[in-house]
Amino acid sequence: MKIMLVYFSATGNTKKIAGVVKEEFEGLGAKVDIWDITSFENRQKNIDISSYDALVFGFPVHSLRAPRVCREWLENLPGQGKKCATFFTYGGFWLEPVHYTTKQILDKQGFILVSSAQFLGAHTYNRGGWKAMLDRPDSSDFVVAREYAARTFLRFKGEDPGEIDGFPLPAFSDEEMDGFEKFRFKLLEHPPAREGECCLCGLCEEVCPTGAMNAESGLADMEKCIVCLRCMSVCPEDALHIKDLTPTWPYKLDNHKMTEDDLRGLQSKLFL
Ligand SMILES: Cc1cc2nc3c(=O)[nH]c(=O)nc-3n(C[C@H](O)[C@H](O)[C@H](O)COP(=O)(O)O)c2cc1C
Repeated sequence: MKIMLVYFSATGNTKKIAGVVKEEFEGLGAKVDIWDITSFENRQKNIDISSYDALVFGFPVHSLRAPRVCREWLENLPGQGKKCATFFTYGGFWLEPVHYTTKQILDKQGFILVSSAQFLGAHTYNRGGWKAMLDRPDSSDFVVAREYAARTFLRFKGEDPGEIDGFPLPAFSDEEMDGFEKFRFKLLEHPPAREGECCLCGLCEEVCPTGAMNAESGLADMEKCIVCLRCMSVCPEDALHIKDLTPTWPYKLDNHKMTEDDLRGLQSKLFL
């Protein structure tokens, strides 16, 4: 069986889960090719999925849904009736609409969704002072990732005939979710900006998933920036910074009616 595993990972959580899923599939005898759509260039290239038996899509949750750039990319990928599975990494807060809204796109494109999963991952905005899911994903998440791959493999092979019927309708409309997406700039006020010493290596500009970052000025174009903080995560000199979010952390917990203990108690899980 030939599987294509597509993922987007700005700061590495989704990539870690993708690595474990790939390893498990290969241990079961599948051949797995990776297609990393984090880079702007790779999202522009045409991919030929006709020689694959099934596909897996792994995305982070950005404001309750798959990142906009991933949704747009999927909307241009004809499914050819192929079986597929999805998984998402998230920082421990709301994510439910992500399963429903991604399945909606996959159904429209002609894919058959057989399984999904959600995995805890350090929240991107811990870089500004939040403390959500520090050190995740960890070995407990990798156990779930292996089970996800094993159960999905059975479904891909037809040995378990199940597929996903549906997910609960999101509590928010598309317009409301578009609004949440814009909220990130209210919270952060601006994309990462340079504050420290910079050797002008250009890495931040090179890896920016949307072509927003300008290494020379140390500023990102707010129209293009999705605040995924990939630029910050790769900077060898820690020269890029976002606003200090430490004072907003208690409000974030309060808003979600959660404590740090509640967050620590969350587990990754499968949907079959
Ligand atoms: C713009 C943006 C929006 C996010 N929205 C959510 C969210 O709605 N719920 C949540 O639990 N985590 C949210 N997160 C956290 C990420 O989902 C989480 O850190 C993810 O594992 C990052 O994956 P990556 O390291 O592969 O990029 C958000 C992160 C970013 C950058």
